[in-house]
Amino acid sequence: MITDSTHLTNLLKHLFAFDISYYNVSFLNKSLQKRITETHCNSVEEYGSFMQKNKEEAKVLIDSLQISYSEFFRNPVTFAVLERIILPSLILKKKNTRHKQIRIWSAACAAGQESYSLAILLDELIATDANKLNYRIFATDQSEELIREAQKGNYSATALNNLNFKRLNKWFSIQGDTYSIKPELKKNIDFSTFDLFSKKLSSPPTSIFGDFDLVICANLLFYYKSKYQKKILEKTASCLVKGGYIIVGEAERDILMKYQYKEVFPQSGIFQKI
Ligand SMILES: C[S@@+](CC[C@H](N)C(=O)[O-])C[C@H]1O[C@@H](n2cnc3c(N)ncnc32)[C@H](O)[C@@H]1O
Repeated sequence: MITDSTHLTNLLKHLFAFDISYYNVSFLNKSLQKRITETHCNSVEEYGSFMQKNKEEAKVLIDSLQISYSEFFRNPVTFAVLERIILPSLILKKKNTRHKQIRIWSAACAAGQESYSLAILLDELIATDANKLNYRIFATDQSEELIREAQKGNYSATALNNLNFKRLNKWFSIQGDTYSIKPELKKNIDFSTFDLFSKKLSSPPTSIFGDFDLVICANLLFYYKSKYQKKILEKTASCLVKGGYIIVGEAERDILMKYQYKEVFPQSGIFQKI
C-alpha cells in the first residue's frame, strides 16, 4: 500500500514539470503500484530512487496516467440523444438566428474518434436540411501526439465497432486493415493542442471567442481530484452560450449533479447549467 508519495510528486514536478498531485488518489496509487511491481521495487521511496537513475521510467509512469482510450460513438445513449433530440433542436434554433453556425468544443478528443462521431451526425442532419447551416468543431487534447493522429484520421477496425456499414462506407476509405476518414469529414474540424489546466487560456485560441453551443468533455474528469474536476468544469462551462450543453462520460454524471447541472435526458450524460 502507498502511504506517502510526496517525495515522488516533488521529483516529477521538478525534474519533469509534471504534477501528479492533480490525479485522483486511488487511480494514482493503482498506477504507481503497477509500476513499482513491474520495476521490482519494494516501496514508493525505492521507486523514486529508481526513477532518478532511470529517467525514461518517468515517461512510462506519465504515459500510464494519461489514458487515451476512445472509440467512435462511445456511450451509444449519449449519441442517440444527440442525434434524435439535441442536435435537431439546435439546428432548428440556429435557423432562426443570424449566426447560422453550430459551434462545438471537443475538449479531450484523444485521437479524434469523438470529434469525427459528432461531425458524422451533424453532416448527416444538415445534409437533409435545405437551409444549409454550417458547423465547426474545435477538437483539442493536451497530447500533441494524439492531435497528430487525429489529424491523420487512420483507425483500425476495433475503434469502429459502433459504426454501421452505411456510415463506414460513406465516411471512410478502407485499405487493408486501415480505415481512413475521408477529407470531406475533416473540413469542419479544427484540431489543436490545449491543456484544460492552462492558466493563460480559457478556450482554444483557434476558436477566437469560445461561445460554444455544446462542449464535450468526456471520460477524463474521473482521473482527477474533485478540486481539479471543478476547475475543468468551470473552464468549459464559461465558454458555453446561454442554455448550451456540456457532455461527460457515463461514469462522470454524478460529478455534474454535485455542481448543480441538470441532465437533460436520463442516463445521457448531457447536461445544462441550471
Ligand atoms: C480516456 S480519453 C477520453 C477521450 C474521449 N473524450 C472519449 O470520451 O472517448 C482522455 C483524454 O483526455 C486527455 N486529457 C487528460 N487531461 C487533459 C488536460 N488537462 N487537458 C486536455 N486534455 C486532457 C487525454 O490526453 C486523453 O486523450
